[in-house]
Amino acid sequence: MFVGDSHSGGAPKSWLESRLEALGINSTIIEIMALIELDDVRKVYDLGEIQVHALRGVTLNIEQGEYVSLMGPSGSGKSTLMNTLGCLDRPSSGSYRLEDSEVVSMNQDQRAKLRNRHIGFVFQSFNLLNRTTAIENVELPLLYAKGISSRDRKKRAIHLLERVGLGDRLDHHPSQLSGGQQQRVAIARSLINQPSILMADEPTGNLDSKTSREVMELFRELNEEEKITLIVVTHDAAVAKHSKRIIVLRDGKVVEDTPDLAQATQAIQAAEQEDMIPSSEA
Ligand SMILES: Nc1ncnc2c1ncn2[C@@H]1O[C@H](COP(=O)(O)OP(=O)(O)OP(=O)(O)O)[C@@H](O)[C@H]1O
Ligand SMILES: [Mg+2]
Repeated sequence: MFVGDSHSGGAPKSWLESRLEALGINSTIIEIMALIELDDVRKVYDLGEIQVHALRGVTLNIEQGEYVSLMGPSGSGKSTLMNTLGCLDRPSSGSYRLEDSEVVSMNQDQRAKLRNRHIGFVFQSFNLLNRTTAIENVELPLLYAKGISSRDRKKRAIHLLERVGLGDRLDHHPSQLSGGQQQRVAIARSLINQPSILMADEPTGNLDSKTSREVMELFRELNEEEKITLIVVTHDAAVAKHSKRIIVLRDGKVVEDTPDLAQATQAIQAAEQEDMIPSSEA
């Protein structure tokens, strides 16, 4: 992205741009890093006898504030890409820069720190602790954080539960909540470290369509009102239509990257059909 392009609409200047301007440097010729930059990212799972090429050269950028869906047939590499973006897993080769830090050369501890600072996760299966209340579940990621008192922790958890519409369910255990409410607790938990990026892998996979719409509405608010960058893996066109950009994977590669749901759906159908035709080498 070039600075000159990004501010044609009169958006506020970044700190860096203002500094450059003060120094009399023309910022239009300086390239600013995107939030996420993947360059030729590959992931090979080595199972001894066989090697699984889960990502085969993914190159893409995601800017701060985007709302992106990752789609594609089963096994196309969506979760692998998400785990890579989320610094849970390291690519076999290529470059992944998150907020200007190269993730590929980091060790596990460094990746964990980066992840805690920037990223919240939401999963299909909610991953809540059953014997604890909604508040305790939301507080959990902060339990060992230094410099925050238990009072402040609780205050922040309550605020987030209210934010996701569960102010009247603070002391309920997961088994006393509906699926959609459990997922909203999980979303509140993912926000406790004030991440700038929220990543969700099939967040509505266990929800009915009405509840799923409620969760998508919450995502839209988080993206539009709180400027959280959202990356959502989904099979569901009704979920993807809420995002502003759809990246389609097939066989570990990006085959479509478009704001147009119809175009994305077409690419997925083509990929699924090709997957059904046995290749001549097989
Ligand atoms: N830990 C692993 N070890 C070996 N192979 C793996 C591992 N995880 C994923 N794979 C393989 O990598 C490929 C991509 O898997 P991935 O889970 O990323 O697909 P996906 O697009 O998320 O699929 P789904 O829609 O079914 O969740 C698949 O062929 C899968 O079998
Ligand atoms: Mg998956």
